[in-house]
Amino acid sequence: MRTYEIIQKKRDGKELSEAEIRHVIEGYVKGEIPDYQMSALCMAIYFRGMTLEETAALTFAVRDSGETLDFSEINGLRVDKHSTGGVGDKTSLVVAPIVASLGVKVAKMSGRGLGHTGGTIDKLEAIPGFQTEIPVDEFKKIVNQIGIAIVGQNADLAPADKLLYALRDVTATVDSLPLIVSSIMGKKLAADDDCIVLDVKTGSGSFMKTPEKSRELAAQMVEIGRRAGKRIRALITDMDRPLGFAIGNSLEVKEAIETLKGEGPEDLTELCIALSAHILELAKKGEYSECEAMARAAIENGSAFAKLVEMVKAQGGDEGYILSPERFQTAAYSLDVKAEESGYIVKVDTESYGVASLLLGAGRNTKEDVIDPTAGIVLRKKTGEYVEKGETIATLYSGKKESLTAAAKRILAATKVGKNPPKMQPLVLDIVE
Ligand code: URA
Repeated sequence: MRTYEIIQKKRDGKELSEAEIRHVIEGYVKGEIPDYQMSALCMAIYFRGMTLEETAALTFAVRDSGETLDFSEINGLRVDKHSTGGVGDKTSLVVAPIVASLGVKVAKMSGRGLGHTGGTIDKLEAIPGFQTEIPVDEFKKIVNQIGIAIVGQNADLAPADKLLYALRDVTATVDSLPLIVSSIMGKKLAADDDCIVLDVKTGSGSFMKTPEKSRELAAQMVEIGRRAGKRIRALITDMDRPLGFAIGNSLEVKEAIETLKGEGPEDLTELCIALSAHILELAKKGEYSECEAMARAAIENGSAFAKLVEMVKAQGGDEGYILSPERFQTAAYSLDVKAEESGYIVKVDTESYGVASLLLGAGRNTKEDVIDPTAGIVLRKKTGEYVEKGETIATLYSGKKESLTAAAKRILAATKVGKNPPKMQPLVLDIVE
């Protein structure tokens, strides 16, 4: 099979066969297909799309590109959650300890930042000493002992996604429905979890900007998960505004800690409770309302926070930072962004906020970029709030002084101020089973 012809076929909008898709994925992982051909194919997929059958074939090829995990040694039901990517989305850091503290096992594999969105692994690595690359046996041991571990993509597990993820991140091919479905579900299916809850973001800060597109994404992932025999559900959630106040790695870890202590932002807390309750319901811990009450209680009685401390310790992190978050290093430079007019914040372009945090050093522009864990943004005003001219709407943090002005300009351009308060939409817009 000639890779050239496969690229050409997709470029011309034709349907690829399962054998063609497997040829490309296997060849890419073996290093026989170079990045430039894979980039061209990703771009062709971006423009031409894929049928559900092609997307399913791509997903299963990604799953089968390496080892598939056998978690049968982990006692009890294994659950996972995965977000399609957002800005300020630190829910995994909160939800995983909540549900683990309630007796389900979280053997979670997470990703790094992608495009303008952050990634759980980059956030966890902001905790000094925290290990995200753990051999599979050790990973299983930790999950069996304390009920939770979050690791990065193991080199042997869905290696095609690891390679594609990094390639898409720098070739403007992230926001493609079949590529997102196969990336997320390829690695979810390679891990041996019983229940999966997907947080499918919608709006200006997500890869799928409209509820219709997000619903389609959710429906395809749920269908492919169902075909693979998983208990799976997707929530469509609002990403027209950043989640919480913090954007950027150590800033987000600190906000997740506050949330687990019951002192977090309302939107983040509510979404984490909802995601936790859906996971617990899928794991048959009770009716939804009972699961919701259990999740709230896990925050109130401190057991979820204690679980995070346990996880950090088990994965080599210095739990002193979790217990005393003021120990996290702060950025060398900061800048307050001031409102240029008075009025209500009626709309923000959340993707631009994500790009601003990337400019500050919280994400990558090239595959080789090193993340500055201290970089990011703390919002002082959010959509729906009134702001006086000259009032601070956000504080920017960075180790690169010169990046502050460019990021501030982006934030101002991305923040629309108007006379009347906007109509706010609910955080959870829909549920796809
Ligand atoms: N998260 C992933 O793991 N992959 C994507 O493509 C997007 C979000």
